[in-house]
Amino acid sequence: MMTTGSATGDALVVRPATRLRGRPGLPGDKSISHRALLLALLAEGESRITAAGDGDDVRSTAGVVAALGATVERVGERGGRVDYRVVSPGGDALQQPAAVLHCGNSGTTTRLLAGLLAGRPLAATLDGDASLRRRPMGRVTEPLTAMGASFAGPAGATLLPLEVRGRARLSPIAWTTPVPSAQVKSAILLAALAADGETSVTEGVTTRDHTERMLRARGVAVPEETLADGRHTVSLAGPAALNAVAETVPADPSAAAFWLVAGAIHPDAELLLDGVSTNPTRRAIIDILRRMGADIEEHDVPGTGGPDGEPLADLVVRSSELRSVDLSPAEVAAAIDEIPVLALAATVATGTTRIRGAGELRHKESDRIAGIADGLTALGARVRVTGDDIEIDGGRRLAGAVTETHDDHRLAMTFAIAGLIAEGETIVRRPGSAAISYPGFFAELQGVRA
Ligand code: S3P
Repeated sequence: MMTTGSATGDALVVRPATRLRGRPGLPGDKSISHRALLLALLAEGESRITAAGDGDDVRSTAGVVAALGATVERVGERGGRVDYRVVSPGGDALQQPAAVLHCGNSGTTTRLLAGLLAGRPLAATLDGDASLRRRPMGRVTEPLTAMGASFAGPAGATLLPLEVRGRARLSPIAWTTPVPSAQVKSAILLAALAADGETSVTEGVTTRDHTERMLRARGVAVPEETLADGRHTVSLAGPAALNAVAETVPADPSAAAFWLVAGAIHPDAELLLDGVSTNPTRRAIIDILRRMGADIEEHDVPGTGGPDGEPLADLVVRSSELRSVDLSPAEVAAAIDEIPVLALAATVATGTTRIRGAGELRHKESDRIAGIADGLTALGARVRVTGDDIEIDGGRRLAGAVTETHDDHRLAMTFAIAGLIAEGETIVRRPGSAAISYPGFFAELQGVRA
């Protein structure tokens, strides 16, 4: 494996590995790391966050938390993870930011921050990179406007750069999310902390529940209810203040997904993955791969001291004979960040895989439906896209080719994993975006083939 070319137009060359062994180091969960920093900003006093993700997205959140008046110190670094000490004046004493709040490539930073700021008497401008400026923000500005915050920005405040004008007291709302989105749910819950009365969010598919767990761990009641029609509601009675806590971040299952697929599709593989979150709202990738025939062992480990009760497991994945799978829109929502690498698994599984209702993938860091289809097709896969559905004929022998990442971290890592089994050389163009969520990824890729 080597890197060629200039820093801006660089490419990674990946050759097939004869065997895969080892214990790749994993980043701290990105979703939990963002939330731990933002909740530390709202909690007066000292919070400790151990083993957080150290990718560019989490760094963007750390930057905005500091810009809003908290002291954010990096007090330790191990295995590509970072420990933070955050001391905050608390949510009622946030500082008016002196400059634009840069969210980089991070949709989670932007949308959760919009919710947090909605209920604070400040004016702030949120901006991001070219990818983030294309991503839809109306899904948060609409409910937050209904609660009393004001937004200004392009296309009716549905795109960055976005000016947020918050209010010390918001009105509670009962909101039903039109598309499953943990970011939207979380933005509304963060605003609900400053609302007079009970706010509720109802979703058709239960999305990741880290915000609810982490608010509870900080002393805020967040009751939940499954309705007769199967929909799920969470609620929060404001105004409410948070306690500062110390917590340890589990390993990111969305990062572990690359190794789960690598191990399952490679003919001579055994990989160990330590301390991965197996939260029911995040573990769909494990269950879907098992349904495809993947040999994945799961050994539960007691929590590492986090107050929010995230279940953890050590995972072992070995070479497997995979078969195709049919994924419903609800399963796609549950594995939304893992669909690119699952699509790679589908190319070698027997039979035709159907991934139905994947439209949300068009609104991620890139249009991931197009990116997956183009990259896997270049590698010799048969991929058909019809509307929001993707069909992949399995049983293919992939052959190295040039793949385009569109500066999307999950596409860069998916095509690099493909290179471990594709014949010849796989060229991953502009792979640097992997650092968005997994800065150590390419070093680990080198390590497991040794
Ligand atoms: C995230 C929610 C998901 C996911 C993203 C992280 C979160 O986005 O794709 O990577 O931390 O809440 P949506 O809420 O847009 O589905």
